[in-house]
Amino acid sequence: MIGKLNHVAIVVPDLEVAALSYSTVLGAEVSDPVDLPAHGVTTVFVSLPNSKIELLYPLNSSSPVQPFLDRNPGGGIHHICFEVEDIFYARDQLLKEGSTVLGDGEPKEGAHGKPVIFIHPKDFFGTLIELEQV
Ligand code: CO
Repeated sequence: MIGKLNHVAIVVPDLEVAALSYSTVLGAEVSDPVDLPAHGVTTVFVSLPNSKIELLYPLNSSSPVQPFLDRNPGGGIHHICFEVEDIFYARDQLLKEGSTVLGDGEPKEGAHGKPVIFIHPKDFFGTLIELEQV
């Protein structure tokens, strides 16, 4: 059902330092910071030949990633995102298998303007999984 790894999202305590680390130490191509008010985050996109890394920083104190940063002050991997062809099919399959789809279960517009759902970390060994229809 799942296809390519679309991105790995990492919450960081300092976006500027993190972007600089990826660009200078790792030699990666990084974007300028992009505010995503609908998601409560500022993001720097790191482009890789086969995927992306999204560096996330809370846009404000009510950001959904603020509690994660509180628990992990040094930063950490927040979620991984796989591509699917049909988000409703994927959602229904997951529910049938007993997985917990977060929120009201309806796909929402994700950071790339495409429909996404999130699956509870308890269902996949401690990792929050995002599925994005491409
Ligand atoms: Co994501």
